[in-house]
Amino acid sequence: MSASPDQIVPLSASRSRGLAGRVRVPGDKSISHRSMIFGLLSVGETTVEGLLEGADVLATAEACRKLGATIERVGEGAWRIRGVGVGGLLSPESALDFGNAGTGARLMMGVVAGHGITASFDGDASLRKRPMMRVLTPLLRMGAEIVSSAEGGRLPLVLRGAADPVPITYETPVASAQVKSAVLLAGINAPGRTTVIEAEATRDHTERMLAHFGAEVTVTPHGDHGRRIVLQGRPELRPSPIVVPADPSSAAFPLVAALIVPGSDIVIEGVMMNPLRIGLITTLKEMGADIVELDRRVEGGEDVADLRVRHSALKGVDVPAERAPSMIDEYPVLAVAAAFASGETRMNGLDELRVKESDRLAAVAAGLAANGVDHRIEGNDLIVAGTERAKGGGLVATHMDHRIAMAFLVMGLASDKPVTVDDTGFIATSFPVFVPMMRGLGAEFA
Ligand code: S3P
Repeated sequence: MSASPDQIVPLSASRSRGLAGRVRVPGDKSISHRSMIFGLLSVGETTVEGLLEGADVLATAEACRKLGATIERVGEGAWRIRGVGVGGLLSPESALDFGNAGTGARLMMGVVAGHGITASFDGDASLRKRPMMRVLTPLLRMGAEIVSSAEGGRLPLVLRGAADPVPITYETPVASAQVKSAVLLAGINAPGRTTVIEAEATRDHTERMLAHFGAEVTVTPHGDHGRRIVLQGRPELRPSPIVVPADPSSAAFPLVAALIVPGSDIVIEGVMMNPLRIGLITTLKEMGADIVELDRRVEGGEDVADLRVRHSALKGVDVPAERAPSMIDEYPVLAVAAAFASGETRMNGLDELRVKESDRLAAVAAGLAANGVDHRIEGNDLIVAGTERAKGGGLVATHMDHRIAMAFLVMGLASDKPVTVDDTGFIATSFPVFVPMMRGLGAEFA
């Protein structure tokens, strides 16, 4: 049985022989959340294949049920959603509990804001600490109201949506796909055009899914790295089949493990290669990683490829701040790769890492320190002084953060002494089969 966020399960990873084999990591978390939400918002049956059955997505599914959808699992990763359609949502009788899932909570705030219903939002201790005003500020402009909230608009929160939401033009002050998506989801039920302008392009799964379900959405470049997204409100969303590709943010863990464990040679199948998600692969290739894309093809409307990854001599690089949105969840494991590189890796512009499931900048720095890896933080930049090794031997505090747990378990597979993480329970939020899958490749976990 895999762990769950309800159990505290420590684990140690130790130096392993070369990893070998073929794996397919679970479905993309961002697309899985959106599959449930778009299923809810269309009338009729949406089928999903390859859904990530992690705790985060299951929380979003439960919230969709409370808002009126009928959702059933019909096989492994195969789900059917009968939606109620835009305008057909019910006020839920009990609180929508998103557990650890920022994406579920923030996207659903957009959905509720665009409907004349009232809903309570809650989550675990990690989610209760995370900022929500970034999403609520534009939603209030669209007509939603905060009935009550914890300090600073945090969860637990009661949100009253607008029966007639006002379409707005919103320039996002932070590079956040969640903020963009919340505004667009509220805009679905607004008459006229809702526009989101982002200075740095962020993952575009909401825009793609809007188009896939029949909405009129146009995306044009804005400035050097940004985009302007215009949604024509009140579309008739048609239920459409969804095939979820493998999550590049989960693939990142076996990928970096194979790069740092000598003798490794693995294949990770069907990894989504959406350009807004593969900043880590670009960076690792710059570091000298041997990653070969095999059989590039289109699956479920996204480019995917099988990635052959072999142990590589890595060198330190400078990672530009503008690349952050395309690899925002991958910095913890990149910091691990950087420890095993020769020379300094400088990761610029990591301010958003401070507001993830944990303060990831602090958690990564503490994990590196506990395992004898020389590093420093300068402003919002993390600099890791790579020496082609990590001493290990440390105990890493994961702070309810799945990616901190997985990143440091990966470190332990190549460090001099084992690395222990204090809790693997939260890995179940995004990658429930991580431990058995890595063991299958030869990872030594005890
Ligand atoms: C996500 C967006 C990102 C990312 C998160 C998933 C999404 O968050 O970190 O894991 O699915 O839209 P931000 O929008 O806060 O950058």
